[in-house]
Amino acid sequence: MVARETDGGIELVREEVGEDFLMPGEVTIKVHFSSANYKDGLAITPRGGVVRNYPLVPGIDITGEVVSSEDPEFAPGDLVIAHGYDIGTAHHGGFAEYARVPAGWVVKLDGLTPREAAALGTAGFTAALSVQALLDRGLTPSDGPVLVTGATGGVGTVAVDILSGLGYEVVASTGKIGAGELLAALGAHSVIGRLPAEGEKVRPLNKAQWAAGVDSVGGQSLAHILSTVKYGGAVAVSGLTGGPEVPTTVLPFILRGVSLLGIDSVQLPIGARRELWARLAKDLKPQHLSLLENYVPITEAESVLHSILDGTHSGRTVIGVAGEF
Ligand SMILES: NC(=O)c1ccc[n+]([C@@H]2O[C@H](COP(=O)([O-])OP(=O)(O)OC[C@H]3O[C@@H](n4cnc5c(N)ncnc54)[C@H](OP(=O)(O)O)[C@@H]3O)[C@@H](O)[C@H]2O)c1
Repeated sequence: MVARETDGGIELVREEVGEDFLMPGEVTIKVHFSSANYKDGLAITPRGGVVRNYPLVPGIDITGEVVSSEDPEFAPGDLVIAHGYDIGTAHHGGFAEYARVPAGWVVKLDGLTPREAAALGTAGFTAALSVQALLDRGLTPSDGPVLVTGATGGVGTVAVDILSGLGYEVVASTGKIGAGELLAALGAHSVIGRLPAEGEKVRPLNKAQWAAGVDSVGGQSLAHILSTVKYGGAVAVSGLTGGPEVPTTVLPFILRGVSLLGIDSVQLPIGARRELWARLAKDLKPQHLSLLENYVPITEAESVLHSILDGTHSGRTVIGVAGEF
């Protein structure tokens, strides 16, 4: 599927192209699955701000099988995932039968199938990066509840699942009425509404409640979490669905020793990326991936991306590519 600019818009169209359409890289992958991420929604949004030039094959996640490699590290038949760097923004992504990418962007899968890897995808990987950052900072289950915002989203659902699997008391914050059953099944201890509550003003400091937070919402939500994290706690921040501006003060940092941990999955060096994917197959593997995953064929990708943009999407959607055109 190729995203092309039209008069005032962007259309996603099925096209047959030759091998010369592929971009430079050492590893050619037969794509099995991609997935739907917020950034993929922005890629088909006029002035979405993530794509440098059209036409572009969207899909920031590529999973599948190596068909040829000019790099000895990879051989035909290897099962791999590639995501981050320019994929799906300045380099053709996973919404096509084949993808060609630099070897330094590719992760061999060990202990995860391509479908499981796509179900995790960039959002799940970002959740794992957030959890890893909190663990590296010394967070333990006895420290108290961990708040996850945007809890029904891709980052949110996987963060709830990983944290609950590690024994943390997870409080899931969501704007979706009726999401409680799913979040409880993923291991959330309790489910609350979006923060701050409607009409509530964010104060510089408020009642301390959370040992830590995983926030992919940003904006007022992040300001509220910072004002309610317990002494010495930390918040891993990865997203901005609630807006980029954070109306906070220095008080949580200088009076409660709160830390803000920035999470970036895009430019993360490949060594750290491969190590975290190995953990995602072992100690950080979500226990309920099949519950939070939906499947659609590539022909239905566009409608899923619109649901992500309008905030009605839940969990992770795997996009079937092989055999689905
Ligand atoms: N830093 C990185 O490397 C990285 C990587 C991946 C994603 N991200 C970013 O992380 C964010 C989440 O990505 P995702 O793939 O998880 O997206 P997603 O699946 O669309 O989930 C986002 C969730 O945010 C909540 N939300 C939506 N609109 C909101 C609003 N106006 N105010 C408050 N909450 C709102 C919703 O959860 P509820 O309905 O449950 O409240 C929604 O499900 C995006 O900003 C994305 O760009 C960053």
